Amino acid sequence: MHADVIVIGSGIAGLSVALAAAPRRVLLLSAGRLAVDGASHWAQGGIAAALGTGDSVEFHVRDTFDAGVWVGNRAVIREVCAAAPEAIEWLVNLGCRFDRQHGQLHLAREAAHSHARIVHAEGDGTGLEVMRAMSRAVRQTPGIEVHEGVTAQALLQDEQGHVVAVRCLDAMGRSCVFRAPVCVLATGGIGQLFTYTTNPASAQGQGLSMALHVGAELADLEFVQFHPTALHPPAELAATKLASLPLLSEALRGAGAVLVDATGAPIMAGIAGGDLAARDVVARAVYAAQMHGGALLDAREAIGRDFPHRFPTAFASCMSQGIDPRVQAIPVVPAAHYHMGGVRTDAAGWTTVSGLAAVGEVACTGLHGANRLASNSLLEGLVMGRALGDQLRGMTLPSTSSIVPDSVDTFVGEWPQPPCSMELRSMMWRCMGLRRNAEDLRIGLRRLHDLMVEPPAGGPALPRIRLMSRMLRAALARSGSIGAHWRDDEPDAAVAALNPDAVRAA
Ligand code: SIN
Repeated sequence: MHADVIVIGSGIAGLSVALAAAPRRVLLLSAGRLAVDGASHWAQGGIAAALGTGDSVEFHVRDTFDAGVWVGNRAVIREVCAAAPEAIEWLVNLGCRFDRQHGQLHLAREAAHSHARIVHAEGDGTGLEVMRAMSRAVRQTPGIEVHEGVTAQALLQDEQGHVVAVRCLDAMGRSCVFRAPVCVLATGGIGQLFTYTTNPASAQGQGLSMALHVGAELADLEFVQFHPTALHPPAELAATKLASLPLLSEALRGAGAVLVDATGAPIMAGIAGGDLAARDVVARAVYAAQMHGGALLDAREAIGRDFPHRFPTAFASCMSQGIDPRVQAIPVVPAAHYHMGGVRTDAAGWTTVSGLAAVGEVACTGLHGANRLASNSLLEGLVMGRALGDQLRGMTLPSTSSIVPDSVDTFVGEWPQPPCSMELRSMMWRCMGLRRNAEDLRIGLRRLHDLMVEPPAGGPALPRIRLMSRMLRAALARSGSIGAHWRDDEPDAAVAALNPDAVRAA
């Protein structure tokens, strides 16, 4: 099959590219069902946009740069924050029903935002509503051909190294090849490489692995964000047996819920920013409390009886595990949530490999620096996806019909691979989790090296092992602690080396 553009992935980033690129002929490959596959439809908090009284794009830029510990790409930050209000309007015009108060968009508050600026829907059901409206628009757009149940296995290059096709498995398990002069990765994240994650089962890093295989540069792989409040299931449900843990949105703390330790003492008391400090700071504090008896999110006083209608998704998750958040504090654990690192792209979304673009979580544009600001992820997918789609619509594209390779390079262990084993997930949690040190990272690397040299039959697949190994090496190479990358053996160095005012002024 032949098109102008292949988009792999059907979350907010992939759909934004496809919609903006129309009337180009777009093949949209979705591993599951449209609007249901991937992490976007799970998103609770919302989309950040400077729309409130007293807020400005400048403030949004500053909050994003500060949360990212001053290493984000300021040009990208400015572009994305400036485009946010118009992107929200575009979604409203597509039919997104965001929550309103007195006719105006209601704006929630989340951690490390100086202003209330989170646009949301159905309380904490933002992703569901956004994906509903976008997927309906996609189905109504004639140039977009949706292929559901199709899993990308490998990117195929011509002799000059251009990516010109994608080999896939279709819903019946048959191998097929899709061809186009441009391929866009919009495959999401890597949360499933860790014991605890809020990500869906599909977040296995397949986009990164495919990009790595064709020689694309990856960047900032050590920057993995851990959300402070995943619901910690009761012992009988053993968290380690669950592929994903339910998220308890930061908007709960924005609405006044507080984190407490096992004795009921506030965890964030005395820490700058308190319960709304930057996500990396809160996640480490929750992790420390968890190591000493447990951490809980107490919403009884601030939200209480309003919980079911203000946060219906979180309420249903709690109740399904026998926890009534109106009358009980909720046990929480930090969990891998978002990858700031990814396939290196320029500000327009192009990777270092010709014909290959990347957008959304799989990409590393530098927007998030070392720690992503809450609700900037749907925003990035939306803004960067639309910008890339606009560019593709206006570009002259070569025909690939004559340059698709007949014989295809095969490599050991293609996607789809079996889910990451619990042994490796817990190795990653231990070595590459919220607190790291050189010794543990080296132990992890040795284990991965052994698996690469002698892969056990039916054991972990090589592309994933290579990716994990890259991540561990990136963490070992970055000495000092910064944002989500915390080194117990070098706690201060990287942060102390930075002077935010000097960086801002530069
Ligand atoms: C949340 O609702 O806490 C998550 C939002 C995000 O990850 O940006």
